[in-house]
Amino acid sequence: MSHPHIDLAVIGGSGLYNFPGLQNATRHAVDTPYGPASGEVVQGDFAGRTVAFLARHGESHSLPPHRVNYRANLWALHHLGARRVVGVNAVGGIRDDMGPRVIVVPDQLIDYTHGRFTSFCDVDGAEVKHIDFSEPYTASLRGELLAAAARVGVPAIDGGCYGATQGPRLETRAEISRMKRDGCDLVGMTGMPEACLARELELDYACLALVANFAAGCGDEAEISIEEIFAHLAAATANVPVIIGELLKR
Ligand code: HPA
Repeated sequence: MSHPHIDLAVIGGSGLYNFPGLQNATRHAVDTPYGPASGEVVQGDFAGRTVAFLARHGESHSLPPHRVNYRANLWALHHLGARRVVGVNAVGGIRDDMGPRVIVVPDQLIDYTHGRFTSFCDVDGAEVKHIDFSEPYTASLRGELLAAAARVGVPAIDGGCYGATQGPRLETRAEISRMKRDGCDLVGMTGMPEACLARELELDYACLALVANFAAGCGDEAEISIEEIFAHLAAATANVPVIIGELLKR
């Protein structure tokens, strides 16, 4: 490959459609065996390193969570040379201390999604691979994110269980109560199958979860306002390049 080494890939979620501060950017439309990725991968210099960025929902947010081609996205990043991926995900907070604008680096997940392609091994001739997924996120990358956040003074919670729902609708209060009983601390729509596909490709993968709202029935509000979600997300998102920049300095 002619592409330079990529130090870190970032998959941006809702509210993060480009990576602020990326210099000398080049765009790569990758042809994947799984169809088109969410868009072009934008590769550039950041904090003296090479970063690849991909907007999970497309740069104009045209893809809902259940229509994101997770396989193509991860395959494209891997193909370009990425070996470490941070997924930035907007989430609803279930746990009391995970209110709007809080940043969490989850350490577990439960998958409630359905009808999504969850593996690269469902094409003819592909090797069948059973990955270990006891720890769905890469401990070292999680640690680097948390250490970087601490160094720049951005509070981030270490650990939590991310429940991945199908969307695109938000959940009912009963669904969130059940998820709470299941042990979920956060709820989002895009954490899976991204995490297990990353593991199949042997990529280091961690999730930077940005809390946009209290999940249904968890806050004081009777209804969740989508405008509020995006306002909180914008505030939390501003910290992402700060954390990533610090992570890359080490
Ligand atoms: N539920 C699911 N996904 C979300 C939420 C939520 O409340 N907020 C942001 N992403």
